[in-house]
Amino acid sequence: MHAVYLASVYLHIICATLWIGGMLFLVLVLMPAIKNNANRRELLNNVGIRLRTVGWATLLLLLITGLFNAYYRGISLQYCLSSPYGRLFLYKISIFAIIAAISFYHDFFAGPQAIREMAQGTDSRKFVKLARIIGQLNLLLALAAAFIGEIIVRGW
Ligand code: HEM
Repeated sequence: MHAVYLASVYLHIICATLWIGGMLFLVLVLMPAIKNNANRRELLNNVGIRLRTVGWATLLLLLITGLFNAYYRGISLQYCLSSPYGRLFLYKISIFAIIAAISFYHDFFAGPQAIREMAQGTDSRKFVKLARIIGQLNLLLALAAAFIGEIIVRGW
């Protein structure tokens, strides 16, 4: 059973790396690199659709391995309501729920609307701005989730 736990934590950390790394790559590398590229909209659309698929698979794996890690550590609801580390875990689950909700809105509504706005070349860039803000908020939330993960393991 301990070997399964080690594999679960390993997979959890790799998924956290893929989720956070994917967003950092988008913000720090891809967006600046294609800023003046004539095919920018098409590239963003193709990358966005691919990242959406990989992203949701990663979120699902984070949830499954996270729940298993919690179970193996004996993190019960009682523990969550009666101890500071338990409360931290509840904060992490809440952050994860917010990440999933705003990712859904971003991936299936704001993002596609933003691509449409870019195609129409409209002045109103409402969804382009909204998609960018949601993306940046998602990155901050994921960084917070990773930090809480470290504190759950190592304490303050
Ligand atoms: C975006 C989402 C998430 C990110 C970025 C994330 C990140 C991390 C990281 C980096 C660690 C390792 C900390 C370390 O070893 O120092 C960790 C540990 C942990 N995470 Fe997450 N996590 C996420 C979602 C979740 C969810 C949804 C759950 C529970 C349902 C969860 C439960 C845990 C637990 C229990 C540990 C401790 C693992 C152990 O026993 O060593 N995580 N998380």
